[in-house]
Amino acid sequence: MYLSREEERIYNGDFGWAYEISMKILVKLGDLYGAERLIPIESAHVSGVSYKTIGNAPIEFLEALVASNGRVKVDSTINPSSIDFEDPSFNLLPGELIEKQKRIIDLYSALGIEPTLTCTPYYIRQIRTGSHVSWAESSAVIYANSILGAWTNREGGPSALASALIGKTPDYGLHRPENRRASVLVKVEADILSESDYGSLGIYLGKVLGDSIPVIQGKIVREECFLKQMGAAMATSGMVSMFYLNGLDGVSQIEEKITVDNRDIRRSYEELSSAFEKPDLIFIGCPHCSLEEIKSISSLLYGRRIKEDIKLWVCTPRFIRSRAYDCVKVIEASGGRVISDTCAVVTWLRELGVETLVTNSAKTAYYAPLMSNVKAILLPLKKCIEVALREV
Ligand code: F3S
Repeated sequence: MYLSREEERIYNGDFGWAYEISMKILVKLGDLYGAERLIPIESAHVSGVSYKTIGNAPIEFLEALVASNGRVKVDSTINPSSIDFEDPSFNLLPGELIEKQKRIIDLYSALGIEPTLTCTPYYIRQIRTGSHVSWAESSAVIYANSILGAWTNREGGPSALASALIGKTPDYGLHRPENRRASVLVKVEADILSESDYGSLGIYLGKVLGDSIPVIQGKIVREECFLKQMGAAMATSGMVSMFYLNGLDGVSQIEEKITVDNRDIRRSYEELSSAFEKPDLIFIGCPHCSLEEIKSISSLLYGRRIKEDIKLWVCTPRFIRSRAYDCVKVIEASGGRVISDTCAVVTWLRELGVETLVTNSAKTAYYAPLMSNVKAILLPLKKCIEVALREV
């Protein structure tokens, strides 16, 4: 891979170890995927923040980056952690876990990364269409490429962090126009009406598409929260990092075609629901909720009370939470919690007394049983709220 004089000096350690190791990570990746050069990025989004999912191993690496004076070169954000430090529900967790999680966040902050602690950084920052970015977090990657029109590969935590420190990424994959062409035509004949239907569709498509880029046609509604759920789910069961919707030019030349009908969606729901018993937790907010979603949830809960023995968590970026004061008051008056900086997948659910959850997110229904050994039920938002409000 071609390096400019300055990039070579970084590679050789002239600016310190933090930049040297970051450059070496990027060059290794670039060589592996046939990139010819590095290109500048406008932002980075780094995963690998929850102590539950990363454990102790990366702490030493982050400490070494800080000790050698590493600072990010571009606007950088981080994924959720394992704890909302401002919510008393998490006080149940052992002190050691809380300390370790604090340490990880402090280290990222010391590198100059804003502790946004959300998987929906696009609700905090405007992303320019056509801008190159380096994002980890698969749900944000597919959203950036497909809905925001930004260009990013599906980075891992270390490569996104390396890009943040250098301000560049290797020019390969979805940074190249020739790799952003759709290769599969998906015709949706199923009746998909709710965000959980879109999530089920996404889980089905992720399994059949692998890492292909689809153009999706048929009964699709361009509603942001539907597309967010579909994209997050496709990136969960598969490696899909981008999709197009109806109306793309050149569709007639696509040879591979898939049709999705009601049976496929029903099967997907069945596979995602591992329990039929009363839940301990209703979880909304995977990916983290937008202001619009918070408003819908608060209107469903207005003047109502959720059952004493059921927890309701609504997860949203702290930035959105601070702008939704009245809605937060309504949700919390009903007995629910509006939680930031974490989610039900990356915290310790069992330790918090959860064995079964109901969610409107196909991604959570897919991951929670695997990552937290809990049972899950996938339902549309309105049904989730009904379950919280009445005996089942
Ligand atoms: Fe975000 Fe947690 Fe879902 S990080 S995408 S809410 S699994």
